[in-house]
Amino acid sequence: MHLFDKCAAFTAAREARAAGMYPYFQKITESQDTEVVIDGHRKVMIGSNNYMGLTHHPKILEAARVALETYGSGNTGSRFLNGNLDIHDMLEEELAEFTGKEAALVFSTGYQTNLGVVSALVGRSDTAYLDKLDHACIQDGARLSFGETRRFRHEDYAHLEAQLRDTDEGRGKLVAVDGVYSMEGDIANLPELVPLVKKYNAVLMVDDAHSLGVLGPNGEGTAAHFGLTDEVDLITGTFSKSLASIGGFVAGDDIVIDYLRNHARTEIFSASMPPSAVATVRAALEIIRTEPDRRERLWKNTRRMMTELTALGFEIGPTQTPIIPILIGPMDLTFKVWREILDAGVFTNPVVPPAVPEGGCRLRTSYMATHTDEHLDFVLEVLEKVCTKYGVL
Ligand SMILES: Cc1ncc(COP(=O)(O)O)c(C=O)c1O
Repeated sequence: MHLFDKCAAFTAAREARAAGMYPYFQKITESQDTEVVIDGHRKVMIGSNNYMGLTHHPKILEAARVALETYGSGNTGSRFLNGNLDIHDMLEEELAEFTGKEAALVFSTGYQTNLGVVSALVGRSDTAYLDKLDHACIQDGARLSFGETRRFRHEDYAHLEAQLRDTDEGRGKLVAVDGVYSMEGDIANLPELVPLVKKYNAVLMVDDAHSLGVLGPNGEGTAAHFGLTDEVDLITGTFSKSLASIGGFVAGDDIVIDYLRNHARTEIFSASMPPSAVATVRAALEIIRTEPDRRERLWKNTRRMMTELTALGFEIGPTQTPIIPILIGPMDLTFKVWREILDAGVFTNPVVPPAVPEGGCRLRTSYMATHTDEHLDFVLEVLEKVCTKYGVL
């Protein structure tokens, strides 16, 4: 066997491309957050994670410009060595305050955050308990660690309890969940989870990638949404969604964050967040704090789409947030529907295994504070027309 035999045998993507049905790596040539241009045609974007609609906010663009001029385009090294700027430290202080934790540590992506945190904390004599629908970077962090990994059925805390009960008391225990599940849009039931975690002397980590800006009285995330900030040990998050940039962070007790600062390999052995990204995140945090009407508008759009999609007869699953999946089922049908919806002027994301279970293919749609009523009218009209044609409705 040659190492590359598997590459030659992988024909699915080539076949889909030849049939004009390959849905990934779409070339966007212009973007105005709610609208993008593909192949010279304008599409309404309901496939991003830009919940607050901040990627084109004038204050954010200006912050990036100033940072570029002050610090240059990149840091050419890890924060450990030559790549630590004063604004990295300032951002960490602001994030700790925003999330209600003692300290925070910034990474260069959200993926690296979870990978680094889980793999640094879960040692040989520890166990990680993961919801089966946790994001890939949490699962990969557990694989990279030297500890044991157990997976419980999605949101099934009786299953989790059975696993906790069945574990040797001497082991360190990390329970890691997504605050909002990225393909379902449901919220982790922290009020049920927190007492269980405490009962078994475990540590709770919540990935707030899709909750920052969206949940909580001021957009602080899932723990604040439930009034449980002090009960959640570690909050992780990404800057690539509501915070309109790239990077990630973990927030928690000072002593834990200091350990991670000195042990998380994805932070130590990787170049730091570029200056313009740090500056945009700081500006985005400020806007989230000072423009609460954006969150109100996001929720108004979300409620409207949940109500109208359900009334039209779409199956949207257990979502409670701006992530609203349209459940279709078979993969072929999902791709056909996706293609026709895109051609009609609406950008969605087709999601197929392994991101979702077999037979659970869907279009992931997600909404923004900056979508206008006219955008949403158009989206509803297109979705109804195409999905009726294909028998999805
Ligand atoms: C729940 C969750 N966690 C972490 C990440 C990783 O974040 P990033 O894209 O910033 O690396 C994502 C991104 O898709 C996510 O959905």
